[in-house]
Amino acid sequence: MFAPMEGVMDHTTRAVYSSLGGFDRFVTEFVRVTDKVLPASIFHRYLPELRNGSKTLEGVPVFLQLLGGNPELLAENAHFATQLGACGIDLNFGCPSPTVNRHDGGASLLKEPHRLFDIVSAVRRRVPQAIPVTAKIRLGFSDKNKVLEIAKAIDSAGATELTVHARTRDEGYRPPAHWEFIAMIKEVIDIPVIANGEIWSVKDFLNCQRISGCNRFALARGALATPDLALQIHEQATHQTSTPITWESVRSDVLAKFIQSLQSTAPSPSFVVCRTKQWLSHLGRGYPEAKSLFDSAKRARTMDEILPLLLS
Ligand SMILES: Cc1cc2nc3c(=O)[nH]c(=O)nc-3n(C[C@H](O)[C@H](O)[C@H](O)COP(=O)(O)O)c2cc1C
Repeated sequence: MFAPMEGVMDHTTRAVYSSLGGFDRFVTEFVRVTDKVLPASIFHRYLPELRNGSKTLEGVPVFLQLLGGNPELLAENAHFATQLGACGIDLNFGCPSPTVNRHDGGASLLKEPHRLFDIVSAVRRRVPQAIPVTAKIRLGFSDKNKVLEIAKAIDSAGATELTVHARTRDEGYRPPAHWEFIAMIKEVIDIPVIANGEIWSVKDFLNCQRISGCNRFALARGALATPDLALQIHEQATHQTSTPITWESVRSDVLAKFIQSLQSTAPSPSFVVCRTKQWLSHLGRGYPEAKSLFDSAKRARTMDEILPLLLS
């Protein structure tokens, strides 16, 4: 699965990764639910794939992620989204943003496992049984003391599946990810568990698989740095030989396609510049050439400045 990423994993990026292959599921950026049932236009904005049965053009399902603390409102929004065609609902219990956490959303709910139970069961009741209701957590807010209680609350509330980003909220995105806690979670719940956090390479995947005992994985930054990481992992898991894609092909195919598609859909030219630089900075971790390209492009204000660098 490509893990949800706010400000990154939108429709355009999903389309690029879906055509590259290797992912069995995508999740939207989080849709924040505060005080009402949101209009259809919001769901269509976050999940334009609703017009294609909630799937990418290649047929990969896209789940809608909701974030909030009010069980009934989340349930009503989830219900409405499924009426519009969402093929799965994911609940965000991991967002570390102080603003979100101050307003009763994301990782702050991990402090009160009974509230996770209330939210998941309300959403589960309101969403047709055939549609998955999944949850994504961290290991806790400040410490990991309640992690098993959290997982059991979500399981007993009827969630279909649990994704675990193996760090606490206070650990942010700092390595390491504590995959051993995922193994502990798997021991106490029955639903499938998806391991997430710090998978940057096939070697990391193998370590994560060994330590967590999982056979489902969610990639985030690693897949931005190495766009064919999921394909490499699939090939490893099915004992095929893999030939990682070269920087040349990332630059001339993947990135070019991304920019072309952004230019036709972005709300403004500066959005295209911003997203292009953002992805170049992630790619810099996978390819030295991208790192130097990013260094040259980071002060650019227009695509007219960036495109010649990309082509040179
Ligand atoms: C820029 C960014 C945005 C993210 N947005 C979301 C989000 O909207 N919903 C969510 O559940 N997790 C979000 N995450 C967390 C990721 O899904 C993932 O759990 C985390 O990055 C750990 O995986 P990684 O080590 O492979 O990057 C975000 C992470 C990053 C870096």
